[in-house]
Amino acid sequence: MTLRRVNVVILVLLAVAFLIIVQRNLLNLSDFLHKENPDAGVILPFEAEFSPDIRLQTLRKGEEIPVLITAAEERLGAVIAAMNSIYQNSKANVVFTIVTLNDTVDHLKVWLSNTKLKNVKYKIVIFKPELLNGKISKDPQMLEVAKPLTFARFYLPAYIPEAEKAIYLDDDIIIQGDIQELYETNLKPGHAAAFSDDCDSASAKGIVRGAGNQNNYIGFLDFKKVAIKKLGMRANTCSFNPGVIIANLTEWRNQNITGRLEHWMELNMQEDLYSKTLAESITTPPLLIVFYKRHSTIDPMWHVRHLGNTGAGNRYSPQFVKAAKLLHWNGHYKPWGRASSFSDVWDKWFIPDPTGKFHPVRRHTGDN
Ligand SMILES: *[C@@H]1O[C@H](CO)[C@@H](O)[C@H](O)[C@H]1NC(C)=O
Ligand SMILES: *[C@@H]1O[C@H](CO)[C@@H](O)[C@H](O)[C@H]1NC(C)=O
Ligand SMILES: *[C@@H]1O[C@H](CO)[C@@H](O)[C@H](O)[C@H]1NC(C)=O
Ligand SMILES: *[C@@H]1O[C@H](CO)[C@@H](O)[C@H](O)[C@H]1NC(C)=O
Repeated sequence: MTLRRVNVVILVLLAVAFLIIVQRNLLNLSDFLHKENPDAGVILPFEAEFSPDIRLQTLRKGEEIPVLITAAEERLGAVIAAMNSIYQNSKANVVFTIVTLNDTVDHLKVWLSNTKLKNVKYKIVIFKPELLNGKISKDPQMLEVAKPLTFARFYLPAYIPEAEKAIYLDDDIIIQGDIQELYETNLKPGHAAAFSDDCDSASAKGIVRGAGNQNNYIGFLDFKKVAIKKLGMRANTCSFNPGVIIANLTEWRNQNITGRLEHWMELNMQEDLYSKTLAESITTPPLLIVFYKRHSTIDPMWHVRHLGNTGAGNRYSPQFVKAAKLLHWNGHYKPWGRASSFSDVWDKWFIPDPTGKFHPVRRHTGDN
């Protein structure tokens, strides 16, 4: 009888000791996780607010695939759906670098850590809008068009310093294929990036003519300006869409791509090289200049575009959309908005916001 009591006491003591050790370790772990990297702005390390054992089970091995994507507060559901589609459709060791503004960090972390994305590997990098001083107009109307985060892609090697090759993705995309395949896109020697040309067959199918849907250089750049003329580029050269980029970061650094992009942004401030063109894009033109005839191409099925344009629903058959590896809702009609085509495809990957702040706008609100 006393023996039994002693056993119980020992068991209780062991349990208490065990709990203390576990708690210590967790505290230590969270200390470590909250350390910040002082070099590259504020970099919050990988989230790991779950048990290390669970983490081990779900750890993906193999070569890391670095993916840069931005997270804008007013459309945070976009990056969540995009990440979910990438993660569920691949076994690859994907590591996301999410560039966002300071005010969005907490919301994003709650969303990621309280849903099935909690085991996804990611780091959050805070974009410093001061980076763009003297490079984009401060006119509030322009700022509306020129969302600072859209320039994050210009700084790829700064955000992913450890990688040689990386993928940049717009947030209004869904991936239906295995991202490993996209990552293996071959870049020609001397090329710093691959893009999808706007004249390839899959894309041309979806092009809707009119302002904002240009598919050649003259739609994006003012060829009457001396600085543009001097480059000797052909105005009818097919443009490309920089919503999906495969980059060789070594080449990017060697060729000083970031510095050259900044140079064209600064020159545009003085000489209006592209602010008033039909396409109204101010992120694409510097890329068109710097990568003129110096980029590789992405398989058209890995960047099916224009799902956000009027008429996309008539141009693409459901079979084609199903077969596409990557869908991009560039254009005015976003799949989380009211009037977009194929928003049912996007809905499959969307994960509701645990904070309740973000809701896709649907025709029949109240259904769910
Ligand atoms: C706490 O974490 C540090 C790394 O940040 C590690 O070196 C140390 O061994 C850990 N201590 C314990 C008790 O786990
Ligand atoms: C970022 O936000 C936190 C609160 O969420 C605040 O304490 C901090 O000062 C902000 N940092 C900057 C650079 O604005
Ligand atoms: C990237 O470019 C460097 C320099 O040209 C080259 O040595 C390397 O093989 C390239 N890497 C990839 C993955 O294409
Ligand atoms: C990169 O390009 C910019 C613009 O042309 C130039 O000002 C800068 O000096 C270049 N940097 C290097 C390291 O070559």
